[in-house]
Amino acid sequence: MADYDVIVIGGGPGGYVCGIRCAQLGLKTACVEGRETLGGTCLNVGCIPSKAMLHASELYHESTTHFETMGLMGNAPSVDLSKMVEYKQSTVESNTSGIEFLFKKNKVDWIKGWGKVTGEGQVTVGDDVHKAKNIVIATGSEPSTLPGVEIDEETVVSSTGALVLKEIPKKLAVIGAGVIGLELGSVYARLGSEVTVIEFLDHITPGMDAEVSKNFQRLLKKQGLNFILNSAVQSVETADGGAKVTYKSRKDDSESTLDADIVLVATGRKPYTKGLGLEDAGVTVTDRGMVEIDAMWRTNVPHIYAIGDVVKGPMLAHKAEDEGMAVAETIAGKHGHVNYNVIPGVIYTAPEVANVGKTEEQLKEEGRKYTVGKFPFMGNARAKAHFMGDGFVKMLADAETDRILGVHIIGPGAGDIIHEICVAMEFGAAAEDIARTCHAHPTFSEAVREAALACGDGAIHA
Ligand code: NAI
Repeated sequence: MADYDVIVIGGGPGGYVCGIRCAQLGLKTACVEGRETLGGTCLNVGCIPSKAMLHASELYHESTTHFETMGLMGNAPSVDLSKMVEYKQSTVESNTSGIEFLFKKNKVDWIKGWGKVTGEGQVTVGDDVHKAKNIVIATGSEPSTLPGVEIDEETVVSSTGALVLKEIPKKLAVIGAGVIGLELGSVYARLGSEVTVIEFLDHITPGMDAEVSKNFQRLLKKQGLNFILNSAVQSVETADGGAKVTYKSRKDDSESTLDADIVLVATGRKPYTKGLGLEDAGVTVTDRGMVEIDAMWRTNVPHIYAIGDVVKGPMLAHKAEDEGMAVAETIAGKHGHVNYNVIPGVIYTAPEVANVGKTEEQLKEEGRKYTVGKFPFMGNARAKAHFMGDGFVKMLADAETDRILGVHIIGPGAGDIIHEICVAMEFGAAAEDIARTCHAHPTFSEAVREAALACGDGAIHA
């Protein structure tokens, strides 16, 4: 007799959402989580704490730049980093305890401890053995580092250590110009650090629409971030509370060094499947640690599913959540579905950057014929009033059918306004559908409509 219909291993956004949806669909469900709190990397040491730090540092920066212009006189506030970290932590706690409440409300059992698959339909946590008809692996990912670079979370930190620094570093070196490097680099640049980002490629944010990426880099430079591109970090040595980063130019192989008080390693993450017993259970795991699944998130072992950062696709909390819900529906005999063509990506810098669908480079590579509609936030009244005229909306639509293929936004509220496009794309909308939809004035969203108008007879305010 099984104790549960479903045991989910991992209580992050993939796992906890899966657990709640399973219970809502009438399945007896438990979630195994070894951390002291639920919510995984995202709520504890990732998305949520970083957003608290981004918010606080953005307001601080705003107070030192635009307050007087707006007639808000007086001394700019000073920064108390330990207080800021306390605020960040209280945000984390209110969110993680919220998940615990949701588990109780939905009758999902939280089995505290680290789970291991120890037989067919069997999960062992400490000395306890639990039986389940279905097992869902949702164990997430961990920072991956480089050879020659050891993360000690004191001087050489991952995003986890960067969120609990004791002092604002005078010099911060960031390895990797991806999402983590740029978000956390922005936080410390705003708080006064001299930030230098070293990136392997000749551009920042790999995979992003090139035009947006270039503009993004220009805006970050204006905010004081330095970039060393086309350079591979070779090693990091620590001494006397500081660090020396050695990197090699990919153009001429010359080696250079950079001194820093803190080094943030932001070179990607890798699936976390250590100690799970997957190999012994016969589950196929690739040599990069990724669990192989079919189109229904099933592994090669019947009744073991996997979702989120341990499987293919972007390592994003919302992608994991969608997979969590879809797997719950599949197990409950319904039709779980995730549309991987419409998964938005957001970078929470100022301005924010958001995208969904294809980039212009992808369309060119596919040989598609497309129209481009662009609209700058300088033409958006609300953005101008908020000193947020930097950036633009770029819409890519099929040249023949006008169907929206991708939208890329750099500008105020980008991470929120992208969702009208996600909905539109789910409904197979054309650019004209957005262009003919009345948008409230004055809002940032009007820039999206103007970009849609620009795909047709032209934008009004550009
Ligand atoms: P990333 O994959 O976004 O970026 C890593 C960067 O490091 C790349 O640009 C790569 O070229 C560079 N790199 C690799 N080796 C290097 C070397 N030897 N020297 C210099 N540069 C090197 O990874 P990141 O930023 O660590 O983020 C990890 C994951 O977490 C990503 O999948 C990301 O999507 C996710 N995440 C998402 C957030 C969001 O949605 N806002 C926030 C934070 C993380």
